[in-house]
Amino acid sequence: MSTDLDRYAFLPGAPAFYPTIVASEGCHLITSDGRRILDGAGGAIVGNIGWGRTEVAEAAAAAMSIGYVVPLWPTPSRLALVDELVEHWLPDGFHHVFFTSGGSESTDSAIRLARAYQVAQGRPDRWKVIGRHPSYHGMTLGTIAAASHLGRQKGYEPLLLPFPKVPWDDAEQVAKVFEQEDPATIAGFIAEPITGAAGACLTADDEYWQTVNDLCKEHDIVLIADEVMTGYGRTGLKFGHQHFPMEPDVIVGGKGLGGGYVPLGAVAATDRIAEALRDSGFMYFTFTGNDGACAAGAKVLEILRREHLVERVATEGPHLEARLRAALGDHPAVTDIRGRGFFYGLELNVSRDAVVAAALERNLWVYPAGSGPVADAVMVAPPFTITADEMDTLVATLRDAIDAAPFM
Ligand SMILES: Cc1ncc(COP(=O)(O)O)c(C=O)c1O
Repeated sequence: MSTDLDRYAFLPGAPAFYPTIVASEGCHLITSDGRRILDGAGGAIVGNIGWGRTEVAEAAAAAMSIGYVVPLWPTPSRLALVDELVEHWLPDGFHHVFFTSGGSESTDSAIRLARAYQVAQGRPDRWKVIGRHPSYHGMTLGTIAAASHLGRQKGYEPLLLPFPKVPWDDAEQVAKVFEQEDPATIAGFIAEPITGAAGACLTADDEYWQTVNDLCKEHDIVLIADEVMTGYGRTGLKFGHQHFPMEPDVIVGGKGLGGGYVPLGAVAATDRIAEALRDSGFMYFTFTGNDGACAAGAKVLEILRREHLVERVATEGPHLEARLRAALGDHPAVTDIRGRGFFYGLELNVSRDAVVAAALERNLWVYPAGSGPVADAVMVAPPFTITADEMDTLVATLRDAIDAAPFM
C-alpha cells in the first residue's frame, strides 16, 4: 500500500489530513495504525446499517458475475430491488423506479423528469424547478442551479439556469414566489423534507409544507422530495416527508439506500407521472440498474426490515437527542440543536472545521455542515445500530471537541 497520501488527493497540495481506513465494524472505522474511530455520521450520512456487513458484499458479489446488461432489460437483482421498494418502502401509488449511481444523478433525473412530464402534458413553457434556500441537491450543474448552497455554487456562476428560490421556512413567501414566477412556467418544486448538510437539519413547520403541497397540487407542479439523506429510515419513518403534510409526486433516494456499500440511487415516481411518459420514454444512464448495486441495495433494505432498524431509530432517536441536549444544550458554542430520529444538526458559533478536526483527533467522526444563513454546524447521524454506550461516547467526545474549538 502506498504511504504517499498526497497521491490520493485529486488536487495537488490538498492536506493529507484524514487517516487511511483499512477495515470497519459496527459503528467503527479502523485506521491503518489501529485506531478505532466512532462513526458518528455513518460516513457521509450513508451508513444506516453500520459497517462490516459481509452479507451485503456477498449479495453484490453473487450478482456481479452477470457482468453488464442494458438497463432496459430486467435481471433478477433489478426485479428484486423494485419488488422490495414497491412492496415494503414506497407510499401507495408509487410503482415506478428509475435507478442511478447516487444522489446527484437522482436529483438531476428528477428535475429532468419534472420537465419531461410537463412537456408530455403539452406544456412546454414549464421549465423552472423551484428550490429552497438553503438546500443541497448534488454537484451536477443542474442540481447546483436548482439548489441554494452558496459554498457549493461559488466559482460556477453564472449558473446553468436561473431557477427561482423560496425561503426554507416562510409559507407566505412561497406563495408570493409562485405568483411572481407564474405557475404556468413552473415544472417542479424540489425540497429536502429536513434540510441536510446545507442547513444542518432545518425543519419547516406543517403550515409551510401544507402551502407547498397545496400550491403544487393546484397547479400540477411536480413535487420532488429529495430524500437522499432523510430516506430509508434516517428520521424514524421510512421517508422524511412522512412527518409533514407533504405528498410528493417523485421521491429521490441515494446514500442509505445502498447503505454506503454501493453507489446506488433511485427516483421513484407515481403512476400518474410515469404513465404520462409512456410514449416519450426516459433515457437511462449506462449504469442504471447495475446488478451488484441493486443486489446490495435489496440486501441493505432487507436488513433494515429484518432487524427492525427504522423502528429502532424512532424509539432510540429521542434518547440520542436527550443526550445531546443534556450535554450541549447550554454550551456557549452551541446555538441550536435540531432534528429527529438519528439525524441532528448542531449549529455552532465556533468553526465547524475546528470541531470536526478536534473530534477526529479524539477518534470521533461528525459531519461538517452549514451554508448561507447557517454558517457553522456539525451533524450527528450515526448508524441505526449504535448502542447506548456508543451514544454516550459520541456525545461526551463531541463535547470535548467543541470545548477545544477556539471562539472566532
Ligand atoms: C439532500 C441531498 N441530495 C443530493 C445529494 C447528492 O448526493 P451524492 O453526493 O450522492 O451525489 C446529497 C449529498 O449529500 C444530499 O444530501
